Amino acid sequence: MDEKISTTTLEEWLENVKPFAYDGQIADYIPALAKQNPEELAVSILYLDGDCVYAGDVETCFTLQSISKVIALALALIDNGEDYVFERVGMEPTGDPFHSIYRLEQHRPSKPLNPMINAGALAVSNMIHGQTPDEKVGRLLSFIHEMTDDHSIRFNSEVASSEFETAFLNRSLLYYLKQHKVVTGSVEETLDAYTKQCSVELNVLHLSKIGALFANEGRDLNSGRQIIPKHFARICKTFMVTCGMYDASGSFAIKVGIPAKSGVSGGVMGSLNGFGGIAVYGPSLDSKGNSVVGLKLLEMLSNRYDLSIF
Ligand code: DON
Repeated sequence: MDEKISTTTLEEWLENVKPFAYDGQIADYIPALAKQNPEELAVSILYLDGDCVYAGDVETCFTLQSISKVIALALALIDNGEDYVFERVGMEPTGDPFHSIYRLEQHRPSKPLNPMINAGALAVSNMIHGQTPDEKVGRLLSFIHEMTDDHSIRFNSEVASSEFETAFLNRSLLYYLKQHKVVTGSVEETLDAYTKQCSVELNVLHLSKIGALFANEGRDLNSGRQIIPKHFARICKTFMVTCGMYDASGSFAIKVGIPAKSGVSGGVMGSLNGFGGIAVYGPSLDSKGNSVVGLKLLEMLSNRYDLSIF
């Protein structure tokens, strides 16, 4: 793509999509997330040549939620290798909501169908090396610091505790997985690490940087250092295509066609080979748990600049 989007165009697009924020709802099943402001919207695009264009509330920090599943998968692959990870978690999309439990009953030996649904993501968190939840989360944070070059990124402890106290479904998924030896050790400790992982807080500028690193085959844009092995970056982007937007992944692939991962705080991270990283924030969600405004913006961007990989 020769032509780059201008800041003015991005600002206009944000204004145009703002009314759609009222078509969705803020996630409140994690009580602390309900405090988010539906009017806060932001977008950032980091091109592979280092140019960055952004608009809106780019300083607003939000928690990664399910976007963390891609980053945790990259770290679990680095820690354990591909064979270990995929002996315990599958590679197939489900077409089910992200917290669904019922497919675990349908396969023997039981294993979560992929690392982007909660069952798979909980198993992946369990695999990250570290003796304690804090050690695991500390390693994940260091990984994120390396990817963003910002060592001030932390997890939001209010959001983490709020989720930990109310995560009854995730607890039941973990007990099921423990029964079937997909996870080892303490359920409460794994849930502690997972909820802290989901609560890592950053803004769209950080997120577009992580998206760009995946698009750059796992290499840091400035130093060229290989932070994620190319093959693992490719695995993560493939999951973003097949399962990144949950049971809306198919329609998103058709309408937008950009590898992307969403989270219930309203963030979406896109990663496009040969282009860069795209991050959108808009906390109002549709019925599948994806950012309403995020989907609109990504669709506009993809159509205008012909970005679909298909
Ligand atoms: O496990 C949960 O419920 C959250 N911490 C993450 C869910 C999430 O972001 C799903 N996204 N669309």
